[in-house]
Amino acid sequence: MKCRRCREPAVIEVRRHNAAFCGPCFVHHCREQVRRAIDHFHMLGEGERVLVAVSGGKDSLMAWEVLSDLGYDADGLYLGLGIGEYSDESARYARAFADERGLKLHEIDLPADYGYDIPTGSSAARRTPCSACGLSKRHLFNQAALDGGYPVLATGHNLDDEAAVLLGNVLRWEEEYLGRQYPVLPAGPGFARKIKPLVRLTERETAAYCVIRGIDYIVEECPMAGGNRHLGYKEDLNALEDRSPGSKAAFVLRFFERAQPRFAETVVEEREALRPCVTCGAPTPAEVCAFCRLRERARSGASNG
Ligand code: AMP
Ligand code: FES
Ligand code: ZN
Repeated sequence: MKCRRCREPAVIEVRRHNAAFCGPCFVHHCREQVRRAIDHFHMLGEGERVLVAVSGGKDSLMAWEVLSDLGYDADGLYLGLGIGEYSDESARYARAFADERGLKLHEIDLPADYGYDIPTGSSAARRTPCSACGLSKRHLFNQAALDGGYPVLATGHNLDDEAAVLLGNVLRWEEEYLGRQYPVLPAGPGFARKIKPLVRLTERETAAYCVIRGIDYIVEECPMAGGNRHLGYKEDLNALEDRSPGSKAAFVLRFFERAQPRFAETVVEEREALRPCVTCGAPTPAEVCAFCRLRERARSGASNG
């Protein structure tokens, strides 16, 4: 197999593009995919300041590197979730990445700064760990972007993540979630813009990118994610992709083009109905936002038990 760009021996095949690449050309291919996503979805203005949420995993570290390489003023944000050794180790990867490149990493620690961790907090609040974790992340990422004066928050969600979430939403026709599933969500009162610059890259590609670029990342999955239905959807989608390469990208990217706009109106209406949380000021449909309610229940649960 020869590299499609330079005809040197290839190290990776990308079947959905009917192509193979050598290391340097694969890195170029990945950057081009990110650039295309940014341009197509109008994610960022030239050289714009962006806060990248980095978990220590391959996707978010790659997103941080590529955004920096493309000339954006990108700082990192690591959120310590208090999930034992897993959190300690992921923090080490995020910090080492930042140190080696002289990049700025902000850190928030859920136990130290907010008085609860995901394992005890989720059970006290009677939520699944992933639901308590997702809610905490959404709230704190947005807050950190606003507090730091970053107009944009980027996450490392890749094509496989988006495909798995989309499959789950379509299987249940979750109209609200479908309306919100898009690679860029505009800023609004109390909301920074949210972007997913890796939507055009699969997990296999982000892993290969990190290996080729020598990015060390935490390989282990979150220990609380066992039984998470999205992991099962990813396997099912990979089986489909195996049989017909390109179907995953078509499923997701054509959804964004053709179907998502039909669900988007409900989201605009939803946002218009929000008001500031009486406790923290974040936009919410209730008096107290879901994050403050979770935090309160998690803290009282943690101190009682
Ligand atoms: P996940 O929800 O774990 O699939 O992660 C999706 C994205 O959220 C990652 O690509 C990161 O951008 C971000 N993220 C997840 N966990 C953390 C964390 N502990 N700190 C900062 N960002 C995170
Ligand atoms: Fe959130 Fe595992 S990373 S529950
Ligand atoms: Zn609140």
